[in-house]
Order: sequence, then structure tokens, then C-alpha cells
Amino acid sequence: MELTIKIGDPLKQQGPALVVGCFENEPDAPFVAELDQALGGCLSALYREGEFAGKLNRTSLIHTLGRTAAERLLLVGLGKRGELSRDRLRQAAGTAVQALRGTGVKRACSVLHLAAGDGEGWLQAAVEGHLLGAYSFDRYKSDLEKNGGVAELTLLVHDAAARKATERQAGEARTVCEAVILARELVDQPANVATPAFLAEKAVEVAGRYGIDCRVMEREEMERTGMEALLAVAKGSCHSPRFIILEYRGAADKERPIVLVGKGITFDSGGISLKPREGMEKMKNDMAGGAAVIGAVTAAARLGLPVNLVGLVPAAENLPGGRAYKPGDLVRSMAGKTIEIVNTDAEGRLVLCDALNFAQRYRPAALIDLATLTGACVVALGSFASGLMGNDQGLVRALKGAGEASGERLWELPVWDEYGELMQSDIADLKNAAGPTAGTITAGWFLKQFAGKSRWAHLDIAGTAWEEKGRPYLPKGATGVGVRLLIEYLRGVAKRK
Ligand code: BES
Ligand code: MN
Ligand code: ZN
Repeated sequence: MELTIKIGDPLKQQGPALVVGCFENEPDAPFVAELDQALGGCLSALYREGEFAGKLNRTSLIHTLGRTAAERLLLVGLGKRGELSRDRLRQAAGTAVQALRGTGVKRACSVLHLAAGDGEGWLQAAVEGHLLGAYSFDRYKSDLEKNGGVAELTLLVHDAAARKATERQAGEARTVCEAVILARELVDQPANVATPAFLAEKAVEVAGRYGIDCRVMEREEMERTGMEALLAVAKGSCHSPRFIILEYRGAADKERPIVLVGKGITFDSGGISLKPREGMEKMKNDMAGGAAVIGAVTAAARLGLPVNLVGLVPAAENLPGGRAYKPGDLVRSMAGKTIEIVNTDAEGRLVLCDALNFAQRYRPAALIDLATLTGACVVALGSFASGLMGNDQGLVRALKGAGEASGERLWELPVWDEYGELMQSDIADLKNAAGPTAGTITAGWFLKQFAGKSRWAHLDIAGTAWEEKGRPYLPKGATGVGVRLLIEYLRGVAKRK
């Protein structure tokens, strides 16, 4: 979908549809009342009958039959005025584009953001909701006409001053959303397309486009580097692993970088510890952390954020097979710690532990990993927050704040030493999985052992990377979670400098 900003009077906008934000029980709000008058009381009747009363994410599509300049009005509920938030506006904007899908409307004008007033971030939220809500992964659908939604959306502002003030905000929001959509597409791609080699190719391609350095390690180099844990996971698959390294320099060379690490398991069958068949197809999303890292680095580079940033994506496929690693195997991680494999389905922490160790070479100012790591996190938090663990309260606090601001919320869990007792092995330094209790934390504790002295945080996105039902700006499938969060965090870092 193309999104542009234009100066204009909402009442004089000709075209197939005008998207209007309406507060709950406020048919007399300024702009709504004007439209109501033009329509001979149609809108106040909707409110009176309770058919459309402005409740959040409810919509009504009205043909105005020549009584307004726009052929249709799409009323979108914003909920109670006093409860409006950036995320609610983002939701309403997502709802709007989804409501227009299937109506045949290809061009629309939106004034949703005007209902919110002038403050910071409203326009950004509206742009994000519109663009992210319009996403659909349809490259393998033959009948695109039927599935297509709005192709061109114009956001109206009152005058040249408003346009000047908003153009940059909108441009940046668009850039970030493109990165979210890049991440979503990588995740939505089926695993027979999105192999480790494919991920690496895409990384090289986008890096080249935006002036980011990208280097890809193949199996031989990984062997020389000692990434045995990562290589163990990859052994069962004919798709050889890749280790993707992205480097963006937005600050002085001597400035220590922020290192992002993303789990890049392109398909997780569980390996020899095979997963049950129900829902296994969703395990193509097990590289969502890696996709978020690729997305975030590209967005940071395009925005020219004044930070040094490194993105690391250990990419592999976890399959059973004659060469696959097995329960009981002993693996020596790059850090030198030995690991007893007790469950080949706890593969994420194995690819991550080598990446976290590799990250130490950069002496990171902060080290943040994102991973669809544990089913236990889905049980604990569902799809409304990602799990957060870390060894530095300043970093944890900054990430939480970015979570609130972006709507990609985080909830902290402890990683106390006591949890390590569950991860002790009889024959090695560690085992890779423990019993059924505290599964998200024991995984986090495992990673912590490889973070060295870095300020480190781990985000478990197992419950947030994939949307089952579809929400206003999160259509079914990949959510691209992490990209907006990380950009918000990096902006904060840049501001505090
Ligand atoms: N990729 C899965 C975790 C996952 C589960 C992601 C559901 C998204 C939705 C991970 O590799 C895994 O299999 N974890 C195991 C760990 C266990 C064996 C200790 C799990 O959660 O069952
Ligand atoms: Mn697994
Ligand atoms: Zn996994």
C-alpha cells in the first residue's frame, strides 16, 4: 500500500472513501457533527440506535450518495476520548484498512489522526496502524484481485505547516513499517523457500541497498571458529547453516556497538526429539528473532540513527536424520563450555550460545537477543507480551519503556542463580534442557552463561511472533515483533547520548 500526506479539507475530499475516527458516544464531536448534518442525521441515528456508537475497533461503512464529497464514509470507533492511546489509534488505523479489504475500494483518504489532536506520536501511530494492518502475505495466491485491499491511502492534514511537521514523522514511520514488513515476509515464507542460505541472501541484498556491511559465514568457517553447538543443530538437515553478520556504523568508530542477536531456526521439527504433528507447520516462524534483527538493522541504517549496531543471525534447520545430533550427545560450545544434549528440541539456546559468545568480540555496549525460544513463554504470557530477562536493570528498564511506547510489550522474569540448579549435567558443564517447570527462565539462565560480562537482555518472542486469529494491525501470521521495539529502544539510546 502506498501512503502519502496531503493538505486538504476533509469535507471536500472527493474519492471512493474517507476514513473518519469517532469517539464513543460523541456524535456531536466537531467533524462528526458536520458530516452528520450533511447526511441529514444519519450518523446520530447510528449512535442513537447503538448500531455504531464509536466503540474501539467497530466500524460502519456508509454510502453517502452524493451528499458528501467522498462516495463512502468509513466510520472507525476510537473508544472513549479519555482512554485514547497511541496503541488504540494504531489499532483503529489497522481496523480501518482491514474493513476496506474486500469492499473493492482501492483508494482512500484518512483523517483518523486528526481526532487525536496535535501531540507527539499520533500521526506515527496512525501511519503504523494503516501500513501494518494492510499487510497480507499473498505472493503465492493466484487470484490477487480478489484478495487485494486498499492500494493508495492519503492522510489529510490541514495546512502547509502541519504537512511540514508531519512529513518527516510519517516518512520515518513508513521506513520502520517497511522493516517490519520485511521481517514478516521472511517469517511467512515457507521453510522450503526460507532456508538458511535464503536468509543470508536476503540479508546481503538489503544490506547492499542501505549501506550496511554484511558478511556470511558458511559451514567451514563456522567449524574453524568453533561454533560446534550451532553446527550440531544443523547436522540433521541438508540445508547447511549460515552465520549472518550485519554491521551498521552510525557513530564514531571507537564507540562500542549495540549487538543484536536473533534466533534463525528456519524450521524446527524438534529433531530426534520430534515435535507432535499438530501445528508443526508453524515452526517455520522459528527464525522470527533473526528476521527482527535483519529488519531492525535495516531500519536503523535507513533512519541514520547515530549508533553503531551489529546484527548476528545464527541460521540453521532442526531436522531428524541419519546425521542428526541426538539426546545424550556431548557438544563443546564456542565458549568452551561443554553441553549435554538431553532434548534436541531445545536447539534455540544452542545456536544462540555460540552467537552470544561470538558477540563478545565486539565488546558490546549492550547485547540483546530475540528468540522464539520456549513454549513455556506462550503458556505464561500468551500473545500480549514477550518475556524479558537480563543481567542489567538499566537495560531491562530501557527495553520495557520501549515496549510500552511501541505497543510491543515486555514482561520481566527473574534469572536467579537458583534456576541454574535445574540445568546441571552429570557429565558436562551444562545440559541443554530441564524439566517442565520454569521453562522460559531455565532457557534464559542458559543464555546468561554465555553473555560474559556484557550488559545483556533476552527477549522470548515465542508467543508474540505469530498471530493466530488476526488483530487490528497484526493480520494472521507473522507479526514482525521486535523491529518497532528495537528502533524505539535505539532512538532512546541515541537521545541519551
Ligand atoms: N521453537 C521452540 C519454541 C516455540 C514453541 C516457539 C511454540 C514458538 C511456539 C523451541 O525450540 C522449543 O522447542 N522449545 C522447547 C524447549 C524444551 C524442549 C526445553 C519447548 O518449549 O518445548
Ligand atoms: Mn525446538
Ligand atoms: Zn525452536
